[in-house]
Amino acid sequence: MYEHRDTRCIHGDLERPAFEATRAVSFPIYQTATFGHIGFGKSSGFDYTRETNPTRGKLEETMSSLEGAVDTCAFSSGMAAVSACFELLSPGQHIVCSEDLYGGVIRLFDKVSIKNGLSVDYVDTGSRDAIEAAITQDTAALYIETPSNPMMNVADLRACHEIAEEHGLLLIVDNTFLSPYLQNPIELGADLVIHSGSKFIAGHNDTISGFVSSGTPELAERIRLIHKTTGAALSPFDSWHVLRGIKTLGIRMERQESNAQELARWLSTQPGVAQVFYVGLEDHPGYAVNASQARGAGAMISFRTDTVEIAHRVLERVKLITFAESLGGTESLITYPMVQTHPDVPEAVREHLGITDTLLRLSVGLENVDDLKSDLSQALSS
Ligand SMILES: Cc1ncc(COP(=O)(O)O)c(C=O)c1O
Repeated sequence: MYEHRDTRCIHGDLERPAFEATRAVSFPIYQTATFGHIGFGKSSGFDYTRETNPTRGKLEETMSSLEGAVDTCAFSSGMAAVSACFELLSPGQHIVCSEDLYGGVIRLFDKVSIKNGLSVDYVDTGSRDAIEAAITQDTAALYIETPSNPMMNVADLRACHEIAEEHGLLLIVDNTFLSPYLQNPIELGADLVIHSGSKFIAGHNDTISGFVSSGTPELAERIRLIHKTTGAALSPFDSWHVLRGIKTLGIRMERQESNAQELARWLSTQPGVAQVFYVGLEDHPGYAVNASQARGAGAMISFRTDTVEIAHRVLERVKLITFAESLGGTESLITYPMVQTHPDVPEAVREHLGITDTLLRLSVGLENVDDLKSDLSQALSS
């Protein structure tokens, strides 16, 4: 295993080389549904692409090497990855979950998982007391986003691990916002790590994908079974796309984070901006915990404008930055969480969390930071 993450982004784990007979430098796209058998009872190791495929295998091995996982399964979306984790649970079981998290996961819990007999309590997972108070005898999992979407709340992953261990819970962490380049929850005690690969990992706003990385061989086996059986495996072509994206993950994360650091400080001084939420600002309540468990603060910023009119003006006027859902790509995107990513969250809950009509979320891309400032400046000005 190469010591440095940026090398692993490009080569994966060369101690577990993926099968590639020709040694092509760009791993080939094995665009095939099925594989011929060498003879009776003899297989090349590949039978049918829903189950295994060399291109997807190379991607999965690369992700495992970056996350420090026993195994990783690549899914057709982040939501398919989240759903696969819930397949581990049985009717009657209960999940304690971060109250601030991607709205699609809340929709999955409230509209699908409940029907399947699971129940969920949403709590401030930045508070150990709040997590412990929500645990019941049926609780089977603790589900964390850190930093969270969109409020950038930070949970202490070491504390979460201690609680999970004490109560026999599965600790599942959505690591989408920081990517494996900046944070590795398995090293801090997580059992499963989820990614929407559609974000920083693929990195170019062009491919939907998801990952589940397992911390133990037992979980790896169970997730593999769910992956091949429920069938939401990532296609060979999209696997190749994501592999290509990962090659530049390190350099992208570093530059996007330095852009975000500068923009967050600058935004804090701008007229019309009431509050900035970025875990890289020293006055963010989660700054110290994030710094103790991650190698950076990432490139996601939320900010509150003084009035709803200013929020709408920014969305309508931005030119370089695109008013769009999603995050993590080379192009900067600005999102209106209340309407775009969290409409299914009940209004009272949104109010409680601070997801109001003045909250905007900015995914900082790779553009020159001065151009980003100019764009926001003209959009904010009255
Ligand atoms: C933190 C987080 N997790 C999971 C997802 C779901 O991923 P996907 O859109 O790839 O299904 C998203 C999507 O925005 C997300 O932001």
